Amino acid sequence: MNLNYKGRNLFVENTSIKSIARNNKTPFYVYSYSAIRNNFEAFSNYFKKVNPLVCFSLKSNSNISLISELNKLGSGADVVSEGELLKALKAKIKPNKIVFSGVGKTESELRLAIKKRLLLINIESENEAKLIDKISRKMNRVTSIGIRINPNVDANTHSKISTAKVGSKFGLSISNFLKFCKDSKKFKNLKIKAVSVHIGSQITSIAPYRKTLNILYKIIKLSKINFDYVDLGGGFGISYQNKEKQIDIRSYSKLVGKFQKKLNCKIIFEPGRFIVGNSGLLISRIVFIKKDGKKYFIILDAGMNDFMRPALYNAKHNIIPILKEKKRINANVEFVGPICESTDTFLKYKNFSFLNENDLIAITNVGAYGSTLSSNYNTRPLASEILLKKGKAKIIRKRQKISEII
Ligand code: LLP
Repeated sequence: MNLNYKGRNLFVENTSIKSIARNNKTPFYVYSYSAIRNNFEAFSNYFKKVNPLVCFSLKSNSNISLISELNKLGSGADVVSEGELLKALKAKIKPNKIVFSGVGKTESELRLAIKKRLLLINIESENEAKLIDKISRKMNRVTSIGIRINPNVDANTHSKISTAKVGSKFGLSISNFLKFCKDSKKFKNLKIKAVSVHIGSQITSIAPYRKTLNILYKIIKLSKINFDYVDLGGGFGISYQNKEKQIDIRSYSKLVGKFQKKLNCKIIFEPGRFIVGNSGLLISRIVFIKKDGKKYFIILDAGMNDFMRPALYNAKHNIIPILKEKKRINANVEFVGPICESTDTFLKYKNFSFLNENDLIAITNVGAYGSTLSSNYNTRPLASEILLKKGKAKIIRKRQKISEII
């Protein structure tokens, strides 16, 4: 995201945040279209030789206007619920570019997915396959499915976003996968088209991906099925704090290229965070500044209901002032939300640009798993979302009215 100070004011590209805040109540999310486009194009370029289908993972950001922009850039969708599927369709993503993942798809969700003839329903248990087969038979259809495998690989990421070790609820174990393939002829109304994996999120090294490709290659050979697609999931990490290691996608793309050649299959990816993570800011106003001994609590009007990642994963998202001051607060500063929970705290600094009550600040890199994880906790309305495109600020989700919740 192109963030810069002109004079003392923070701008996203050529738009000042202050000007957006004049017409919009805080807290609100702001996304940069050009950041999203750049990320999508960078991702596609890395994998140019592989020519994958990129299915943007809606769970990271499911704003329909934003998905619609991604559709125009050529993206498909990875969805995990009826709601996400309907949003993808509303954003005009073609069903043959949609994959449906999830361990607990209900019968009515499956019926909708079968009816819409999605590219793939990625099954995560044998019983799910049985149910899809049964519904498809009744509807006189043959449904394309992928089989999600749990490759037993440690993604070396936060334990709460790691998905592919033994004991995880996701996918079929290798032995169950091989057994499933052997018996698969009994499912007359299923066409087994793909193998899928997703080993975790915010992965910053290619080692676990390399391991996964090796395992996949071996078990695909053992299965004796020619899969049209291998869906390699998402998980590509981004740099939240400048010092963090970046994932070497170029090297990974070479590995995927070799893998693809050996198997002669089409590749699918399901990136979420990589496409939208750095494209968003959460703008918040300071309600109070409270001095406690030598420390200052900066109490914001944004809370963990608006942005959950710090409370859920101890995630660190930098905070920057909208109006930069030369003067500094030379003391410990802690940015906290207004919610009645000790975990409703964002970040601590040893010193910070001088702040006053009523000033604006931005929490950075909140484009992924920001608005989608927000809630009405403490009966607080969902924040509005604004998309900056070609110098225009468009409201792409109105702030929820309190009357809608009550
Ligand atoms: N595909 C599947 C099957 C997934 O479960 C996920 C994420 C993705 C793709 C996209 O992963 P990404 O490229 O965005 O890493 N709320 C957590 C992240 C949870 C990820 C869940 N699955 C966070 O804020 O870090």
